[in-house]
Amino acid sequence: MASVLFPWLAWLLVSLAAVYLLGHGRRRGRPPGPRPLPVIGSLHLLGNQPHRSLARLAKVHGPLMSLHLGAVTTVVASSPAAAQEFLQRHDAVFSNRSVPDAAGDHSRNSLVWLPNAPRWRALRKIMGTELFAPHRLDALQHLRRDKVRELVDHVGRLARRGEAVNIGRVAFTTCVNLISCTIFSRDLTSLDDDGGSGEFQEVVTDIMEAGGSPNISDFFPALAAADLQGWRRRLGRLFARLHRTFDEEIDARLRGRETGGPKKNDFLDLLLDAAEDGDNTARLDRDTLRSLFTDLFGAGSDTSSSTLEWAMTELLQSPASMTKACDELATVIGSKRSIEESDIDRLPYLQAVVKETFRLHPPVPLLIPRHTKVDTKIMGYTIPQGSRVFINVWAMGRDKETWPEPKKFMPERFLGRTVDLRGGDFDLIPFGAGRRICPGMPLAIRMVHLILASLLNQFTWRLPDEVERNGVDMAEKFGVTLTKAVPLCAFATPL
Ligand code: HEM
Repeated sequence: MASVLFPWLAWLLVSLAAVYLLGHGRRRGRPPGPRPLPVIGSLHLLGNQPHRSLARLAKVHGPLMSLHLGAVTTVVASSPAAAQEFLQRHDAVFSNRSVPDAAGDHSRNSLVWLPNAPRWRALRKIMGTELFAPHRLDALQHLRRDKVRELVDHVGRLARRGEAVNIGRVAFTTCVNLISCTIFSRDLTSLDDDGGSGEFQEVVTDIMEAGGSPNISDFFPALAAADLQGWRRRLGRLFARLHRTFDEEIDARLRGRETGGPKKNDFLDLLLDAAEDGDNTARLDRDTLRSLFTDLFGAGSDTSSSTLEWAMTELLQSPASMTKACDELATVIGSKRSIEESDIDRLPYLQAVVKETFRLHPPVPLLIPRHTKVDTKIMGYTIPQGSRVFINVWAMGRDKETWPEPKKFMPERFLGRTVDLRGGDFDLIPFGAGRRICPGMPLAIRMVHLILASLLNQFTWRLPDEVERNGVDMAEKFGVTLTKAVPLCAFATPL
């Protein structure tokens, strides 16, 4: 056995060392960065909170920094000016993704991972014009209104029973159902039930965790075929579980259409219509629909619910901000009326609370990694072909050059200051920017404001006594989404 393994291992080590030496010899002209160790480069500096480690390193090496993470040159932008170079000035060059090995077959049809080519552009166009266009979202808002009413009823029941509300959990369920109502006109999970529907939730959460876990295959692509940590196999099994649920929905709808059942005009109907129209560029076959739905639930639920959990966490620790948000709601809406999506424009303080939450707790702290196929000059440095690019929006949100008293939760800083979340203002880009900007942003903005406003307008909130005494544990868990490590639980009292 040893005689078989030894030559293979020796070859591997020599190859890795060669990659390191070649790479090291070509450093000239690249952005500054930490001195790499042989073979592993600077992997040992990442730790389990890469957004924080990279922010610390950027303080030493600057807002445009390069590191060897294993065999891969990684470039990190940590200031609005540097981010703008990648996402606006050289957006076309950096609009491809660095695809994680664990994404496996999913990446072949996924909007998130497809390269910037005609098929990806055709799918983005469908998203922009058919799914997330304001008139489409308006047409389905009654479905979302019902889901939010269910949330308020559920919290009311917990309040009457004297039970604390696990904010992240109820927000997650509500976001999944808001998305599933928009796509399938039906709930895929339930606030009251941890059984069958809880499983869907568990699968989505596991996908986000597995997708965000460091994988040797991504740092040493030469080893990827072996899937040494088994992440590709694990994610493949999780995707298959989601796909079974989506297949049931698609099959039931196709049967209904065959028998002349009424149309629902939700996302599924719109996609099936587009497929019938024979749009060959987007190729809306079964595999593509499965991948699209996986993307929408994966990218849409955890990100939005985590924003809500952090917003409530900050408000519960900042009584003055909580009072201002509730006073604004009482004046503009009144606690007897339910909130409409069209009310959001009239709630500037609430909008400022959400922006301040995005600044301190961006759900996707390093954005989704980009990749370049050609050498490109940025700020006088060469970004070599094949580099993986991270935009550290977490570091940008806490930079004292841009934000006075950056660690303080202060929604007021956004009052009277127009910050365009649609990628027009590089100081705050929680949804990214440029061609790859989050296509679900219009839905996410409606969901987050609507849920937060409804929770604040119908209840007063307090922390459990013990947490009030000891302080809220603010630890973060790094994955595809930056979530709260210790769930926030709080008591609600109906107004
Ligand atoms: C608070 C909520 C959300 C945040 C903060 C967020 C953030 C992001 C970010 C940072 C990206 C990468 C952008 C880039 O590379 O520049 C992204 C991409 C994406 N998001 Fe969102 N997102 C949210 C909600 C949603 C929702 C609700 C959906 C759909 C239901 C969605 C679907 C997507 C998709 C499909 C992509 C990939 C786009 C592409 O690569 O072309 N997101 N999102």
